Amino acid sequence: MKTKIKDIEAKTKDSRKIIISSLSREDASDFCQCLNMIMVENKNDRTLTASYPNTLEDLKIFILNVTNSENDFILIAKIDSGIGNKVVGICDFFDSTEEDDSEQVAEIGVSIISEYQGKGIAYLLMKNCIEIAKTSTNIKKIILTVKEDKINAKNLYQKLGFKITNKNEQKKFYWMELALLHFVTLMIISSFVFFTNYVDVSPPL
Ligand SMILES: CC(C)(COP(=O)(O)OP(=O)(O)OC[C@H]1O[C@@H](n2cnc3c(N)ncnc32)[C@H](O)[C@@H]1OP(=O)(O)O)[C@@H](O)C(=O)NCCC(=O)NCCS
Repeated sequence: MKTKIKDIEAKTKDSRKIIISSLSREDASDFCQCLNMIMVENKNDRTLTASYPNTLEDLKIFILNVTNSENDFILIAKIDSGIGNKVVGICDFFDSTEEDDSEQVAEIGVSIISEYQGKGIAYLLMKNCIEIAKTSTNIKKIILTVKEDKINAKNLYQKLGFKITNKNEQKKFYWMELALLHFVTLMIISSFVFFTNYVDVSPPL
């Protein structure tokens, strides 16, 4: 089981405090409200988020299963709305490795309530999601799809380092991916660079 994901405090572009946390069963009702708003705003576009259960009870069971899984997690962004914290954004990360994949792959999705868009929240959610994936999962590659006309989403993903790998000309969407360099891999690479650059391995004269 993965390590517990701690809450992260951050600031939006307009200097409001947000809390990024792992979705827990206590957040289920606020999460549902956020999800419903995103669905209404995006004309029920089911491709935007994972398919979540319809009832609160089923959602709580779903959250428990995600919490106990090895590689899956869901981050939410909460902002102080004046009458308590409100969930304004969702970033979900699910292991999507198929049998014939040579490495562990996950799919990521992000959505922000329109009133809170353009404030850097999606970037903060995804950036933290990627860092957690590097340290707490064994996922090696993150993939996503984005419709051709979703310029803001495409820019966001490119800013985070995702590269376009394919395009579906008929359905007009791109495949994008990001390779994850885990901490251990980075340590091995930097030790190798240090060793080859600074350690004299030539035979003694
Ligand atoms: C796409 C979406 C997630 C972006 O969320 P956001 O919180 O507004 O994005 P951020 O403020 O964190 O912006 C991060 C980067 O995204 C890009 N971006 C965001 N809004 C943009 C816009 N209106 N035009 C162009 N680029 C934009 C920019 O690169 C931006 O970085 P910058 O501010 O340094 O230029 C949000 O618009 C959304 O939820 N849309 C509806 C659901 C959706 O389309 N989800 C993605 C499905 S593929």
